[in-house]
Amino acid sequence: MLLTTLLLSTGPLLARAFTPRGATHLPRQDTGVIEPTTLYTFNVGTGAINCTNTGGLVSKSPTNGGNDTTTLITFTYPPESAGKSCTLQFFLAGPDVTLDGTGQIDVFSSLAPAPGCTDTWPPGNGRNIQLGRWNVETSEYATWDCYLTEPTTCAAPGTVEAYEYVGVGDYDLVQWGDASSAPFGVETWISYS
Ligand SMILES: *[C@@H]1O[C@H](CO)[C@@H](O)[C@H](O)[C@H]1NC(C)=O
Ligand SMILES: *[C@@H]1O[C@H](CO)[C@@H](O)[C@H](O)[C@H]1NC(C)=O
Repeated sequence: MLLTTLLLSTGPLLARAFTPRGATHLPRQDTGVIEPTTLYTFNVGTGAINCTNTGGLVSKSPTNGGNDTTTLITFTYPPESAGKSCTLQFFLAGPDVTLDGTGQIDVFSSLAPAPGCTDTWPPGNGRNIQLGRWNVETSEYATWDCYLTEPTTCAAPGTVEAYEYVGVGDYDLVQWGDASSAPFGVETWISYS
């Protein structure tokens, strides 16, 4: 009887604790995860691609001498996601993260995957079209403001998609490291189900 009462009373509490506020699409138990294939940072002022980065960085500031930073990221679709519904997700978590300013990320498609380290242009970021805008919070799923608010059909297996995560507003800072307590051990991923 006591056990039943405990279970009944802790159940909803646990459920509340693990339900991210405002999340539109929660990973389910049968959800697969596509982790990033590559993740580099890009200096918008110099064209440099940093491939010895230890995590992601999205920063904009009027006082950084034009050295705004974006994150260039690729995902490769596996055979398992064929025909399923895919959702791009972001969850800022862990001891090594920073969130300041507008706390938003614009997601753009890139014309081509970033090839790796370079000190300047080419190839640059190859920014293409805007896919959506996230509102980032710490230890919560980022919520979509626009465009990618619903899951889309996953691309064919082997497809490499390249995205650029870009700051919003005059001052924006979203930084994350390697080690994280995000749900799947990475801050950003594509989930499929
Ligand atoms: C690359 O980024 C890391 C931080 O992740 C930084 O410590 C390092 O100095 C950067 N390298 C270059 C060449 O800018
Ligand atoms: C911006 O980057 C350039 C080139 O790396 C550097 O010379 C300059 O000092 C940077 N500006 C600031 C304000 O950090």
